[in-house]
Amino acid sequence: MQHLVDVDNFTIEEIDKILDDAASFKLKMPPKLLENKLIITLFFEASTRTRSSFEVAAKRLGASVVHLDPAKSSTKKGETLNDTFANLCAMAPDGVILRHSENESAKILANMNLAPVINAGTGNLAHPTQALLDLFTIKEHFKGKIEGKKIAIVGDIINSRVASSSIKLYKKMGLDVTLVAPKEFMPKSDLKQSDKLEDVLDRVDLIISLRAQLERHKKPIFEDYGEYAKHYCITKDMLEGRDLAIMHPGPVMRNIDISDDVLESNSSLVLKQVSNGVFVRMAVLKHLLLDSNGN
Ligand code: CP
Repeated sequence: MQHLVDVDNFTIEEIDKILDDAASFKLKMPPKLLENKLIITLFFEASTRTRSSFEVAAKRLGASVVHLDPAKSSTKKGETLNDTFANLCAMAPDGVILRHSENESAKILANMNLAPVINAGTGNLAHPTQALLDLFTIKEHFKGKIEGKKIAIVGDIINSRVASSSIKLYKKMGLDVTLVAPKEFMPKSDLKQSDKLEDVLDRVDLIISLRAQLERHKKPIFEDYGEYAKHYCITKDMLEGRDLAIMHPGPVMRNIDISDDVLESNSSLVLKQVSNGVFVRMAVLKHLLLDSNGN
């Protein structure tokens, strides 16, 4: 049984196939490939994009979707995650999509091997479909030529599950990544690092900005995010005379991560990421529910 716990569950060939399928779905909506499939979504943390994107992707492919709201489930009566999952799997879904605060939760459920588990964001460790849709958006932006493209990841990298999955994926796919953050947000890494955004602006082709993951900070790291923004917010003057594309997985902290005018400019690929997310998640669902686990 194949799961998507993190990007390393897929080979380069599988990633290329998923990106190709997503591109073809974007050109022309496919037939209802998952018409007889049932997917359960289980989101223990808030989500605007990922949950709705998976649901739209599943429905575009004809699958049925059942959402269990943990706030109104027997989790409230002390039921464990493993028991909740086992009970849902007793209803024979074709896949379970999980978002959870614990890093290992998707792996633990995947190891139970009751249904394909698709990680929709766990702890600060993994968000593989965000990494894949970001890669798709980068590839689309550079018209298919991504090898050696210079990407800066800027912000709260150490607490970001998007950064964690993306760094693995970008290394695997030959992108040249620089991490830009104050020391409080910088992870241990063998990648190029800088604490000064202005020093890397002339050396990169694209910037991925990240939100400060306040909900994962055990105590406040910066008292004043206005001060942080003076150094790390992507502003219009930084783009002046430079051909730089700006991405962000969302939600964006406006004028702290990215200024309003940059967000609304042609340099911003942020809403393209959201649109592309549906096609990439369609391709992931096709791969896991039909190509590799299908019957
Ligand atoms: N990018 C992302 O995971 O957004 P949501 O938290 O809204 O799903």
